[in-house]
Amino acid sequence: MQTQALIYRRFGPPLDALALEPLALPPGGGFRVAMVLSPVNPSDLIPVTGAYAHRITLPCVAGYEGVGRVLDGTGRRVLPLRAGGTWQGVVAADPDWAVPVPEDIPDTLAARAYINPMAARGMLARWPVAGRRVLLSGAGSACAALLGRWALAGGAAEVAGIYRAPARRAALEAAGIRPIPMADHRQIAEAAARADVAFDSLGGPVGTLVLERMRPGTDFVGYGLLSGQTIRPERPPAAGFHRFHLREAQAAWTPAEWQAAFAALWPLLREAPEPPAREYLLTDWRAAIAASSQPGGAKVLLRFSEEDAT
Ligand SMILES: NC(=O)c1ccc[n+]([C@@H]2O[C@H](COP(=O)([O-])OP(=O)(O)OC[C@H]3O[C@@H](n4cnc5c(N)ncnc54)[C@H](OP(=O)(O)O)[C@@H]3O)[C@@H](O)[C@H]2O)c1
Repeated sequence: MQTQALIYRRFGPPLDALALEPLALPPGGGFRVAMVLSPVNPSDLIPVTGAYAHRITLPCVAGYEGVGRVLDGTGRRVLPLRAGGTWQGVVAADPDWAVPVPEDIPDTLAARAYINPMAARGMLARWPVAGRRVLLSGAGSACAALLGRWALAGGAAEVAGIYRAPARRAALEAAGIRPIPMADHRQIAEAAARADVAFDSLGGPVGTLVLERMRPGTDFVGYGLLSGQTIRPERPPAAGFHRFHLREAQAAWTPAEWQAAFAALWPLLREAPEPPAREYLLTDWRAAIAASSQPGGAKVLLRFSEEDAT
């Protein structure tokens, strides 16, 4: 019996390096999960480019999160995390790290419950924001949306967000986040000079500008390089410069700590309005990946089988 997987055998631009290939099903008897839905995140695509070539063995199945059903006759839903790539029809999962999904959580939310929510929670735990002025870059992203929402809920004095696509502005305002256009470097410099903590997912010129303008005693947290460029300040920054990597932050977690973190996360995800998503069948993966980088677009989800669609 075979399934299908999005595999990369070399590093490169995802549309060139990835291929949908037949793959033998993992042997029966183990903890096997039939994938239902998986998001296309920058976090999934960046490794394909070779950014983490030192810790990836090729060939590799892509995808870091998603929801599926356990092939044990129960059909119960889990997130088969910390196993092989999730962009394959059936994942040989590890029951210790597979996360049970509460019944009332829809597949569309469960599929993206890991990378961005856990990263946002992890950063806010490490750099608390109560009473502080927060600045976000890449503010239209799923991760920044959660950072902004939970920063305000956690007592941030204010949250400002640097966005690229004009279509993002209204949603930021509705969430209580002061929108700053990415092209307006004067406004960005002013917001950076005012901020007590910045969470930057862009790097490049905007991240560098923010870091350079922040005051002594403030915190700049870099957690992404969506611009494709690194941060290069001209002189040593006054702000504390920190990096956040979810993988490193959770490296020492035990399965019990991991499961407890998800148990605490589900109620928070239930409260947040579910961000929009666009679904593509796995066989349409090229269109899905192309759509995932469209400015102002909704989060793209890969659906593994037409039969699962409701
Ligand atoms: N370090 C960690 O542990 C960790 C964990 C989770 C996520 N991340 C990082 O967080 C970032 C966001 O991930 P996500 O899944 O939340 O993203 P997402 O929902 O797919 O959103 C991507 C966003 O990036 C913006 N964007 C893309 N390229 C850009 C560019 N060149 N310049 C400016 N804006 C750009 C888009 O803005 P518009 O739509 O406005 O154009 C869009 O809002 C990524 O860098 C990811 O690697 C890091």
